[in-house]
Amino acid sequence: MTIATAPGKVILLGEHAVVYGRPAIAVPVWQVVATAEVVDRADGAGCLIVARDLDRELWLREHDATEPLTLVTRLALAQLSLPPDPDWTITVYSEIPMASGLGSGAALSTALVRALFAHAGQPAAPETVSAIVYESERIYHGTPSGIDNTVIAYGAPIWFVKDQPPAPFRPPAPFTLVIAHTGVASPTRETVGAVRAAWQADTKRYTARFDAIAALVTAGRGAIQRGDWPLLGMLMDENQALLEELDVSSLELERLIGVARGAGALGAKLSGGGRGGNMIALVDETAAEPVAEALRAAGAAQVVVTTVT
Ligand code: MEV
Repeated sequence: MTIATAPGKVILLGEHAVVYGRPAIAVPVWQVVATAEVVDRADGAGCLIVARDLDRELWLREHDATEPLTLVTRLALAQLSLPPDPDWTITVYSEIPMASGLGSGAALSTALVRALFAHAGQPAAPETVSAIVYESERIYHGTPSGIDNTVIAYGAPIWFVKDQPPAPFRPPAPFTLVIAHTGVASPTRETVGAVRAAWQADTKRYTARFDAIAALVTAGRGAIQRGDWPLLGMLMDENQALLEELDVSSLELERLIGVARGAGALGAKLSGGGRGGNMIALVDETAAEPVAEALRAAGAAQVVVTTVT
């Protein structure tokens, strides 16, 4: 059996504006992973994909290019110059909550593609994996920027601008994030669509907001390079204010953001599509547990502490 995993992700700064060509910063979250396993069979039945969490069994030959997992399987097999319907069972499962802003779909596809490459004994270059997974993101998200598949395939913090090569980086010193789930599922496709409709209706106002987000993402890059965590926290707060103006926040998100700030976070914001899903808080290492505890006490559905290195 061959096994591969892929991490979740959070957007530190810049979601939504990134769809419109502005920069964004994203980091992987290795505390929650998606996993794919591949085993050979000898029954001539072809390739079966078992999506355990979705309770689905998909025969590769029965699905066209509108099904994300079979699509990435086909693309990976073609890339590997393998027969199009091998006698393999591929099982995928994940700890990453769906529709929560943590990149669950991209992580599942990435784990699957990595497992296929490993099973074929070939190295999986991050740019190749990312390009394949992007095709499944188009099914999940409509008009994705490509940031989720990129940060998950590279497995490293990235500076990202759509249609440009990503710049993976390592911060000069580690920093800590507390991630808390509102418990509200919110598909990214819907929030991205809502922002697009609002941008079309009021292009001038939305363009100004995207530009303001771009400026604070650029400032955030400098803050990370200098290890200036109080400034980074302030920029996250400003980003949250602009996301509220884009109308992708929610009362549940704002309640958890308020709790995190009240418990000593340096800054906090929603992360990903918004209107539900997860919020993130930047903390000093010593504040991580008190902030996590306050979020649990406030009813967060899942709390994860991650250190970005
Ligand atoms: C989703 O993680 C981030 C969004 O900006 C969508 C995208 O970039 O494709 C909301």
